[in-house]
Amino acid sequence: MGSHNTTLLRHVLTRKGTTIPAGDLALILERIELIGKRIARELARSSIRGGLGYTGETNVQGEEVKKLDEWTNWVFLDTFESGDPVCSLISEEMEQAEHRGGQCQENSYAVLYDPLDGSSNTDINGSLGTIFSIRKRAPGHREDVNDLMRPGSEQVAAGYILYGPGTQLAYAAGAGVDIFTLDPAIGQFILWKENVRMPSRGKTYSVNQGNITKFHPGVRKLIDHLTSRKDKSTSYSLRYTGAFVADFHRCLLEGGLFMYPGEVTPDGKSKGKLRLMYELNPMSYLVEQAGGKASNGKKRLLDVVPAGLHDRQPIYIGSAEEVELAERMQVEG
Ligand code: AHG
Ligand code: MN
Ligand code: MN
Repeated sequence: MGSHNTTLLRHVLTRKGTTIPAGDLALILERIELIGKRIARELARSSIRGGLGYTGETNVQGEEVKKLDEWTNWVFLDTFESGDPVCSLISEEMEQAEHRGGQCQENSYAVLYDPLDGSSNTDINGSLGTIFSIRKRAPGHREDVNDLMRPGSEQVAAGYILYGPGTQLAYAAGAGVDIFTLDPAIGQFILWKENVRMPSRGKTYSVNQGNITKFHPGVRKLIDHLTSRKDKSTSYSLRYTGAFVADFHRCLLEGGLFMYPGEVTPDGKSKGKLRLMYELNPMSYLVEQAGGKASNGKKRLLDVVPAGLHDRQPIYIGSAEEVELAERMQVEG
C-alpha cells in the first residue's frame, strides 16, 4: 500500500494497542468523520449562504451563540441519531446531556464535544475546530451522569478536527496521536502523520496577552522570562489565533506552550475560561500521548475531578519543558 492511501477507517481497524475494541472505535470515529466532512463543507461556503453572525440566543456558558455554533451542534445530534454504541452526547452548547437508543450498556460510550471551537473566527474566515472526548458509560447510568464525573485520565479516546486551509483530524486512543488530512476530491480522511511526537521544547507561546492584568503575577513573570531575549530559551515568538484547536495544533507539531490562565477574581480565586470535559481533557490526553504535558498550573489536568459537565479550569499545555517551567513559576499562585 502506498503512503497516501490509508483511510481513517482502515487505519482505525488495523491500529494495534488501542484502549477500546477497534470495532467500537471505528463505529464512533466513522460518525465523527462524517460530522467533520459536513461541517468542513458548510464552513467553506457559509459566508455566501447566510450562515454567519449570531442567533440572538445565549448558551449555557453565558456566551452569545453564533448561527454556526447552533448548526454544528445540530450536526452532532443528527449524525449520532443512529450512533450506536454511543448512548450519550454532552456538548458545550447544551446544558444537559442528550441520550440515544435504550439504556447505556456495558459497552456504551459518551461523546463529549465542542462542536465549533474558536467561534469568534467564523465571520473572518479564520481557523476553527471541533473537539471530542470519548468515555465509557457505566451500566445503569443514563440521565444520571455521575459516572462521568471522573478525571480525564479515564477517557478512552479523544481528538479534534481543524478547519484551516485544509481540514485535518487528529485522534488518539491509547496508541499515540495520528493525523489525517481530508482530501475533498474523494471525500476521505487520509493518513498524514502517525504516532506524532512533540519536541520537548518549542519556539512559540500562545496566550491572549490582552488579558495580562487579569492573570496571576506568575503569568507575567513567565511571559517576561520567555521574551527577555537573553538566549534561545528566552526568545519566544507569540502566536495566537483565537481558536484553541489551531493554536494547539501548532504546539503539537512544533512544540511550545499554549495557555489560557485563570482570571483572578476580587476574592483572590482564579477562574479558568476553557471547559474541562470537552476542551481541556481531550487536548490533555492528546498532548500526553505525544510526549507533552498539560497542567492547570498546579497539577496535571487529567487528574482533575470535575464537579459538573461544564466546569472550567486554567490551562498550560504543550512541550514538557515549557509546562514544567510554568508550574515552577507558580503561574496560578
Ligand atoms: P469556543 O469558540 O468554543 O467558545 O472556544 C473559544 C475558546 C478557544 O477556542 C480560544 O482559545 C479562546 O476561547 C479564545 O478566547 P479569547 O477570545 O478570550 O482569547
Ligand atoms: Mn472551544
Ligand atoms: Mn465552541
